[in-house]
Amino acid sequence: MPKIVQMLKHRGSSTVLDLGCGTGRHVVHLARNGFLVFGLDSSPEGIKVARQWLAAEGLGADLRLQSMTERFPYEDDVFDAVVSVQVIHHADMAAITGIVDEISRVLRKGGLLFVTVPKLRNQGTVFKRVEPGTFVPLDGPERGLPHHYFTPEELREVFWNYDIVDIHLDRWVHYCLSAVKR
Ligand SMILES: C[S@@+](CC[C@H](N)C(=O)[O-])C[C@H]1O[C@@H](n2cnc3c(N)ncnc32)[C@H](O)[C@@H]1O
Repeated sequence: MPKIVQMLKHRGSSTVLDLGCGTGRHVVHLARNGFLVFGLDSSPEGIKVARQWLAAEGLGADLRLQSMTERFPYEDDVFDAVVSVQVIHHADMAAITGIVDEISRVLRKGGLLFVTVPKLRNQGTVFKRVEPGTFVPLDGPERGLPHHYFTPEELREVFWNYDIVDIHLDRWVHYCLSAVKR
């Protein structure tokens, strides 16, 4: 995220959406760096913790409790950047297509997208395959929640209307995609 912040500053970005912000680690980091930050997550506990963290630091951000599978609560072309770390794979391909459409609707032309997704399934969890690349855990805390495991080629296909800056694997074996909306 520090590298992303550098890129955003270099690009003169101001408004940033953290899609699936969870307990707010990126929201707080971005707010500390002076961006106008928006966050969306379907976890009431995540949003609550993120709000408390922001308040404790005297920072502000617009956080919404909502599923990313619904229409995002923002106007078209409002964000200079969208970041989403370990989130969009929590869906099947039909839902992911809708999520990507919504990202593209709210991200302005020339805006930066940074997305990470896991390459590998959790060891020790029993999964059922429901479609190519999509698996549903049959046990554990994410039981019943679809997980899609992207290949780099699929990331390029899904984000076909973006200029891909980079796709690499990080040290946690997550694919990290940075791209610019055409
Ligand atoms: C692995 S956590 C990552 C959280 C945060 N991006 C981070 O890097 O710390 C995945 C997040 O995705 C959120 N999430 C999963 N499904 C979601 C959905 N349908 N809509 C919105 N958020 C969702 C979870 O609530 C959780 O906060």
